[in-house]
Formats: sequence, structure tokens, C-alpha cells
Amino acid sequence: MPETSVFVRIPSLKTVADFRARLAALGLELPCDDTIAVGQDSPLTQPVTGVTINGKILGNRWAIQPMEGWDGTRGGEPTEDTLRRWRRFGDSGAKLIAGGEAMAVVPDGRANPNQLLISESTKTGLARLRETLVAAHRERHGRTDDLAIGFQLTHSGRFCRPNDKGRLEPRVAFRHPLLDARFNVTSDRQIITDAEVAHLVEAYVAAAKTAWQVGADFVDLKHCHGYLLHEFLGAHTRPGRYGGSFENRTRFLREIVDGIRASGNRIDLAVRLSAFDFVPFRPDPARSAPGRPGPGIPEDYSRCLPYRFGFGVNQSHPIEPDLTEVFLFMELCAKLGVKLLNLSAGSPYYNPHIQRPAAYPPSDGYQPPEDPLVGVARQIQMVRQVKARAPAGLLLVGSAYSYLQEYLPQVAQCVVRQGWVDVIGVGRMVLSYPTMLADAVQNRTLHARLICRTFSDCTTAPRHGLVSGCYPLDEHYRAKGEFQELKDAKSKAPPR
Ligand SMILES: Cc1cc2nc3c(=O)[nH]c(=O)nc-3n(C[C@H](O)[C@H](O)[C@H](O)COP(=O)(O)O)c2cc1C
Repeated sequence: MPETSVFVRIPSLKTVADFRARLAALGLELPCDDTIAVGQDSPLTQPVTGVTINGKILGNRWAIQPMEGWDGTRGGEPTEDTLRRWRRFGDSGAKLIAGGEAMAVVPDGRANPNQLLISESTKTGLARLRETLVAAHRERHGRTDDLAIGFQLTHSGRFCRPNDKGRLEPRVAFRHPLLDARFNVTSDRQIITDAEVAHLVEAYVAAAKTAWQVGADFVDLKHCHGYLLHEFLGAHTRPGRYGGSFENRTRFLREIVDGIRASGNRIDLAVRLSAFDFVPFRPDPARSAPGRPGPGIPEDYSRCLPYRFGFGVNQSHPIEPDLTEVFLFMELCAKLGVKLLNLSAGSPYYNPHIQRPAAYPPSDGYQPPEDPLVGVARQIQMVRQVKARAPAGLLLVGSAYSYLQEYLPQVAQCVVRQGWVDVIGVGRMVLSYPTMLADAVQNRTLHARLICRTFSDCTTAPRHGLVSGCYPLDEHYRAKGEFQELKDAKSKAPPR
């Protein structure tokens, strides 16, 4: 077996040959072209065929993944920082904005008091966000009739902190034997009742109406990262209409879609899905020191087998994916008229190494238990398997490419050319270097100093109640007083 827990930093791999040798040493199948293709020769500059979003043909093959900044007003409206982030999304040249950022459909469903809200009261601000992005895109890239913008709709479920950044107010789909203790779930009263689900369905329908009114091309019904709708997919142990069978666990989604259509709203639909999950991880106490968490190990799940507390996870060995229900879910999405399935994995709160592979962990995380390339390849291979069975008319977006760093363009173009995925979704790289793929396909020139090195400050900052952004590489955040606060927080306080 190759040694995967000791990892080699990407900048030390000086050539594509070095990069390939590392992949081979890890036993990973991850294709990578020798050079970056430019202009019309690049698979990434090809328009998307076979699916239109709000009547638009997407002009290229990369997308901006949704990323919050925890920087809205208390009323859920965007601030100058939010506008700047969306402006940079527009600058990126991506023709698909795969949700912008998670927007709560009800005030109590916010993951923090500064999360955007999507409601009648925030319409003006949301319209401005969208217009800012479109204007930036037009100025830099010309056309916008091939640019589709989605709004991601969410309820944060287990991770709600709607009133105070330091106080969890979780609402859950079911009691979880490993997560409850971590996220302050102490009573069955925190379980969302079937009657409350009905109200939430109405809130999603209303949010989709708002999105349509302010000009979004689609809404993304967020089913990932442990948030509420994702948790419902794993509600095997929940009694009643929304738990147990696959049909019951997907009822919430079906009711939202039916509600949107019954309201006469023609907005296009997307779903972001954590296609697989693992049990929660924690730092290995035997290899941790004060202020320095050790490598991640799975929580002891021996008492929880079969593991009926997740989606896309092998119930006998819950540190392995099982995609059986993912294929069913994909068929359901296609049947419901969903046009775009954006695949992710796990949760940033309890197993970040599978969700956003990183060289440096967030401060509430653990050292990588595997070479982060293993995490990247796991997601790319999962998407490949799903894509191989995808029905015509359903567009697949992949995630977790940022850790590839300078090799992101070569891997991205290769997997698109080979048909493993339709569109490359880019997350953290956009925070430090929004135009990376545009630069790559225009003239092959990358600005090395802007390349995201996965320091995880964008995740650590909000864990300490600060706004998110790329503190190490983006001047805008370096210049903020919060940068010092972040350094102080990292050096002493345990995160919330
Ligand atoms: C600061 C930050 C905020 C994020 N916010 C969201 C979000 O609002 N919705 C979502 O689905 N994913 C969110 N994500 C996850 C990303 O969309 C993406 O899946 C993840 O960063 C892995 O992709 P990458 O390797 O390109 O960064 C966020 C990630 C980061 C780093």
C-alpha cells in the first residue's frame, strides 16, 4: 500500500512529470495534460451543449462554486465585502455562477447572524449583487447572454447560529449518535417536526419566487455539507413521512419542487449534493499537542453499525462511499426537471479533509490524514462514476479542484476532454485568484503568487466569528484589522 498520510507539497512538484510521479506513488488515477491548452483548443472554452439554463447556452466549462463570506448585515443584506466578492466572481470569466453563496430561506435557518437572507426584505440588495456580478463580467469578458447565475437556497439545520456567532441553535432531522454531542443537540425538541417541514417548503417556494423576481437564472436547492436538506437524505432512523425509505427521505425535495412549479415559477433548478459522506473525524489524541491537533482519525463508530446516519456512505464501513442511492437521487432529479447537479462531499464541520482537501487544516480541524491529492481524486472519480450514468439533459459540476494549485488547469481540461464531468467548479482558488482559468486559457500565464495554497484561513476566520476571505493572499483582507485578530485567535483561542 502506498503511504498516503505523509504528503508532498504541490509547489515542490516542479513539473507535470513530478506531479504524475506523485500521483503514481499514491496509486491515484487522475489525468493531467502536459500543457495548458489555449483559446479554441481548450476543452474549457467550449460552450455547454444539450442543456440550456433559463434559455442560455453556457459559454464555457468552468463555474464558481458557492462561497459565503459571513459578511452580510444583520438583516441579511449584502455589504461592500459581499459585493466585492460577487464582482470578482464576475471577473473570473466563469459562465456558470453555481449558487453565489448560501442564502437562508428563513432567519432562524442562518448559519451565522451575517448570512444572507433571501426574502422580500432583502430583494434590493440581492438584485444589486447580481447586477454587480453581471456588470463586472460584461466589462471584462464582453458577452453576458451566455452567463447563468444561480442563488443557493439553504437552511443550516444542525449548524444554525442565527442570533449569536458563539451560540449554536441547531435544528435537526434526527438524533445523531456521533454529531449531537459536538453540535449541542441535547433534546428531541430540536428535531424539526413534519408540520415545520411544511412551513419550510413554503419558505423555499417563496425564496425561489424572490430569486426569479430579482433576475436569478436558477436556484440551487442545497443538499450538501450536513445542512438541513442533506441531513434529511440520511434520515433513515426518522419515523413518519420524511424518514426511513428513499421515497420518504427525498419527499422534502419533491415537495419544494412541486411547490415552486405549482406557484407558476418557471425558474430553472439545480441541486448541490454531498454525494458521499464519512463519519465525523477528530484529531488523533495520541499524536496531538497543545495548539497542534494531530492527524484526523474517524470517531469510534463501532457502536453505530450499521451506520444509518448518513447519505452515500457504506453502512458497514462508514469511511467509504456507497453511491447506490446517489444514482437513484440523480434519476429523481432528472425526473423533477432539475437541470444541474453539482457534486460535493462530506461536511466542512466534521470531515473537512474529504470536503475541501487542504495542506493546512482549519483551526477546528486536524492535520490531513491522507495526502490531500487523495481527497481531490476521490471526488473527481466519484463524479466520473456519476457522469457515466447521467441522463441526457442533466449537467454535472464537480468540486474540490483548488488543492491542485498550479496543476488545476491541466487536470481540469483533461477531465472535461475525457467526459468525466461537464463543468469544473472552482471554490477557494477564486478567493485568491479569480481569473486563474481565464488567464490559463487566454495565454497560459499564471500568477504564481496568487495561487491558493489551501491555508484554510477562509474557513478558520468564520470559525472565530470573523468575515471570510483570503487573508494570506488577497490585499483587501490583509489590510483589514481582522487579519491581526485572526492571527491572535489562531495562536490562542480554541474556535467556537
Ligand atoms: C469560505 C468558504 C465558503 C463556502 N461557502 C459555501 C456555500 O455557501 N455553499 C456551498 O455549497 N459550499 C460552500 N463552500 C464549499 C465550496 O463551494 C467548495 O465545495 C469547496 O471549497 C471545495 O472546492 P475547492 O477545492 O475548489 O475550494 C465554501 C467554501 C469556503 C472555503
